[in-house]
Amino acid sequence: MNVLVLGKGAREHAIAWKLSLSPLVDKVFVMPGNPGITLLDDIPCISEDPTDFDILKSVCKRESISMAIIGPEKYLELGMADTLSKNGIATIGPSREGAKLESSKFHSKKLMRDSGIPTADFDFFTKYEDALTYINTWPFENGLVIKADGLASGKGVFVCDTLEQAKADLKLLCIENPLALENPTHVLIEEKLDGKELSAFAISDGVDHLYIGDACDYKKQGDGNTGHNTGGMGCYSPADWISNDERQYIRRQILDKLFSSLKQKNIQFQGIVFAGIMKCTNGDLKVLEFNTRFGDPEAQVIIPRIEGDLAKIFHACAHKKLSLVKDQFQLSNQSTCNVVKASGGYPGIEQPLNLNNKISIDPELFKEKSRKLFFSGVSKQENYLINTGGRVLGITATANDRSEAISKAYQALEYVKFEGEYFRTDIGS
Ligand code: AMP
Ligand code: GLY
Repeated sequence: MNVLVLGKGAREHAIAWKLSLSPLVDKVFVMPGNPGITLLDDIPCISEDPTDFDILKSVCKRESISMAIIGPEKYLELGMADTLSKNGIATIGPSREGAKLESSKFHSKKLMRDSGIPTADFDFFTKYEDALTYINTWPFENGLVIKADGLASGKGVFVCDTLEQAKADLKLLCIENPLALENPTHVLIEEKLDGKELSAFAISDGVDHLYIGDACDYKKQGDGNTGHNTGGMGCYSPADWISNDERQYIRRQILDKLFSSLKQKNIQFQGIVFAGIMKCTNGDLKVLEFNTRFGDPEAQVIIPRIEGDLAKIFHACAHKKLSLVKDQFQLSNQSTCNVVKASGGYPGIEQPLNLNNKISIDPELFKEKSRKLFFSGVSKQENYLINTGGRVLGITATANDRSEAISKAYQALEYVKFEGEYFRTDIGS
């Protein structure tokens, strides 16, 4: 089969790379992709805009695509999966209705509450004044969290420790609306949880589902988890501070409940669920949010641990036959660590990004199979790559344990350089 991966970052690079290794796959394309994917793995990218669904449909026809995998949440919210499915393409990625699990925090939290999924207590408001009145009565010893209802690329969450901060953040979000949200006064206010976060992943075919691994992401820009939130500066897998009993709890109390609730609501969910979970300081596991896609950079650490054929799993899933191949899914016992190199100035809030610098790659990097380079914000100039985005690339190293994976990833980073590059030095620790 010919397969189309939709998206342009390192997550899509990792998905396309893994699919390209499958004997079931003739050709993999990425749309729009980035030139690093083609340069490194000889995977063609179709640089047109996939959110123009007429173009997308004609690309699928031209390249005889029979299966598509959708990376970013924005594409799902636009109804890309609905369009592809209507056109006979087996799709990994939920319908627009299924994607509301991520695109509306209110919808998602209500579903959690109704199905008894452990999560922080919350209230929902549609008017700024009502939310403000509520905040004024909040007991502040443990803080609170304000969340925009709509998709905000991780920027719509404000964790507040004082009343003053909460009032200022609420005003910013609802009145100034820097995120240009359609309904800026639709906000959730919830209790603040303290603990350590993990990302847990499952794939569903609408009938059955399968746990496909967990990882720990470093969302903050600076060492020691300081500075602004980013898309993710690095990651490791597995989340080795979670016990197998806790994994079982996640399967039963979170994922089973979620999928049976989706079924009850007649929501056909064919795709990946990413549960952001807090292991609270008292040991409780509570869901912070659900996403309806792979994480970035979580995909870059989980996919290299998948033994066997991901295309087979995806294909079965897209045809509601997950139960037939479930037993063939296996994760290696090895650990992976991914470190992201970003452009200087990332995430570009306080200073502009330092862009358009030549990326030098020492071929020594490719001598070991246990490390893999994935590209994101790059463009081609003459016969080399330059950095043209925030997150530029990431390297995943695989080893017998986490600490070895961390040092291998950092060693490997030495082989890829560009002017102004920025990366965290404490990923994995
Ligand atoms: P979300 O988009 O809901 O996952 O939130 C983004 C980030 O905000 C999470 O990864 C957490 O670091 C933080 N966060 C969200 N909800 C809470 C909460 N109830 N308590 C503490 N931190 C939270
Ligand atoms: N790394 C977090 C995300 O993909 O949302």
